Amino acid sequence: MLDFGDVQISGIAEKALRLDKCLIGGQWMAAENGRSINVIDPATGKVIGNVPEMGRHETARAITAAEQAREAWAARPAIERADILMRWCQLMLDNIENLARLLTLEQGKAIVQARGEIRYAASFLRFYAEEARRIYGETIPSPMSNSRILVLKQPIGVVACITPWNFPAAMITRKTAPALAVGCTVVVKPAELTPFSAVAIALLGIEAGLPAGCFNLVTGVPQEIGAEMCANPIVRKLSFTGSTKTGELLYAQCASTIKKLSLELGGNAAFIVFDDADIDAAVEGAMLSKFRHSGQTCVNTNRFFVHFSVYDEFIGKFVEKAAKLRVGNGMDVDTDIGPLINSAAVQKAEAHIADATSRGAVVVVGGTRHQRGGTFFEPTVMRDVTAEMRTACEEIFGPVASVIRFVSEDEVIKAANATEYGLAGYFYSRDQARCWRVAEKMECGMVGVNIGFLSVEMAPFGGVKQSGIGREGSHHGVDDFLEMKFVHFGGLD
Ligand code: SIN
Repeated sequence: MLDFGDVQISGIAEKALRLDKCLIGGQWMAAENGRSINVIDPATGKVIGNVPEMGRHETARAITAAEQAREAWAARPAIERADILMRWCQLMLDNIENLARLLTLEQGKAIVQARGEIRYAASFLRFYAEEARRIYGETIPSPMSNSRILVLKQPIGVVACITPWNFPAAMITRKTAPALAVGCTVVVKPAELTPFSAVAIALLGIEAGLPAGCFNLVTGVPQEIGAEMCANPIVRKLSFTGSTKTGELLYAQCASTIKKLSLELGGNAAFIVFDDADIDAAVEGAMLSKFRHSGQTCVNTNRFFVHFSVYDEFIGKFVEKAAKLRVGNGMDVDTDIGPLINSAAVQKAEAHIADATSRGAVVVVGGTRHQRGGTFFEPTVMRDVTAEMRTACEEIFGPVASVIRFVSEDEVIKAANATEYGLAGYFYSRDQARCWRVAEKMECGMVGVNIGFLSVEMAPFGGVKQSGIGREGSHHGVDDFLEMKFVHFGGLD
């Protein structure tokens, strides 16, 4: 058992925390330079463990290991790959408490939400285990009587995955489960702020029966690992979740090897409350879409647009609920809002609030660091926000809600779409015709209509414009890991 004062860690979580190694070709290895990176608990600022500081060379070795394992893995019957993924899912669920505690320890989120994330992560393993057997090809009528046209779907090859710190478990399985299910092998680089969930998931994958080299894990210097993943011609696909800025860089770096890319990038989600909305339901949805995971997801609402006739009523009810949120260490079962990931996140929230209030916005609740200190921040609601304020233009990634007033449907749709991002959007209305109209007009990959929650494994997750390329989750989620091969059978006289 590992003892962090108030928190004891055991089982798979303890094993992951003690390892200080990465997985390459079935072997747990240290960095060649012998160096490690400290990982910090954002709730206490204390070091909880280390992971290897790997670079380009180790990444190239991991890619080679994935390539060596690729042919045999792809040749296994789909049902065998599916069985392994299903066992892996079950192992995650069997270890849910230890995995959730590990996740909270390294990321800070409330333990209830960490348990939810582990279930969410396991759901991708299960979904793609089921999907593995449904990779169907196609036959197409030929223009010639003596030929036949077939389309085969084949695994793309070695896949590199770069995952973010806000969902240290779920983004690993959302990317690797479909890749492995269809017969690809993977090299994963988790965020250096939150690598231990990935290590624990890798340990469980091996226990589930993943052959050596199918799942490789490297931690270390992001620029070096990313550069090798992009430049190495063996990697046929890169899947990235993170900021739009990093996504742009990876996109450019992948050009020289013409890789297939999936990018799940930043967002600037609008949440519209029309005058015909059920205000209590809208407030419930607003709470979920703003404060889930302390506001640190790319689908959290960034801009609330509320019709002027219900503006005060909505703000009154929203503020009443936001004021009751309990800020604390995520390990405490009563906590709703854990610490932000680091001091840069706190400074960003402060800068957005300072900019908005200097231009006329009013803080109705919160607005400052929490009295606990560190990276704890008060859930905040600001009213009288306008479109040109930083908080309405840039992704906040914190528990700060900005509420803008609007008058007409046309005006609010234009305003909601006036952003380079296009990931998620939400709105509340009881008018069915309006619901269809607005859902179709919102320029984003996902729309919540009278609901403030979108993340489920069976639906396609992803954005348009500068929010990304491709979709993860759902039966569409396998497409990015498959190549189509047209086979023309001739001479059939
Ligand atoms: C993300 O923030 O990248 C993922 C959010 C989700 O799946 O809910």
